[in-house]
Amino acid sequence: MVNLILFGPPGSGKGTQAKKLVEKFDLLHISTGDLFRYEMGNNTPLGLEAKSYIEKGELVPDSVTIGMLRNKVESNPNVSGYIFDGFPRTIPQSEALDALLAEKQNTVHRLIMLDVQDDEIVSRLLERGKTSGRKDDLDESIIRNRIDVYKSETAPVFAFYDTQGKAIKINGVGSIEDIFNRLSEEVSQLA
Ligand code: C5P
Ligand code: MG
Repeated sequence: MVNLILFGPPGSGKGTQAKKLVEKFDLLHISTGDLFRYEMGNNTPLGLEAKSYIEKGELVPDSVTIGMLRNKVESNPNVSGYIFDGFPRTIPQSEALDALLAEKQNTVHRLIMLDVQDDEIVSRLLERGKTSGRKDDLDESIIRNRIDVYKSETAPVFAFYDTQGKAIKINGVGSIEDIFNRLSEEVSQLA
């Protein structure tokens, strides 16, 4: 298996690149943000709970997010690997992911961070908000809050995997194809 965490601030291109990587490397893309939006769209109890956090740009509680992620992984056991997009976002989520993969005699092989500066992120997200239908992309104060949450709660996940010798950073600014080529080079070394 090849298990990859695609990491970086909101708007750094994780979803865009994950979609391209799964085609090339035959992996399963798991986006916890997409899973939440699906639940919200169907007004499920999980979706209704998540919505109150997501619309403020806050994190959904770890227990909820971890449970949802575990379900998704356990219902797709026979894949050649996973790309985790938007998860883990906290240290407890990282510990839970490591434990879940260890149960399957597996592990996270690499965390790749897409490095993008704040101003670029804000302008990308405001642009995306014109078409994404996401309320959390429409309001600059919510976007700024998501960036603050990223810095305080999510950025430590990089150090968590760096300590395990698994984290790398690549430049997340440039054309989609250029960034995809940088990523593919890294993933090829794992496959
Ligand atoms: O990953 P994405 O940016 O699509 O996530 C959208 C929102 O979903 C986040 O801003 C956050 O409110 C919520 N989320 C979360 N925990 C995760 C992933 C997403 O709380 N691990
Ligand atoms: Mg995304």
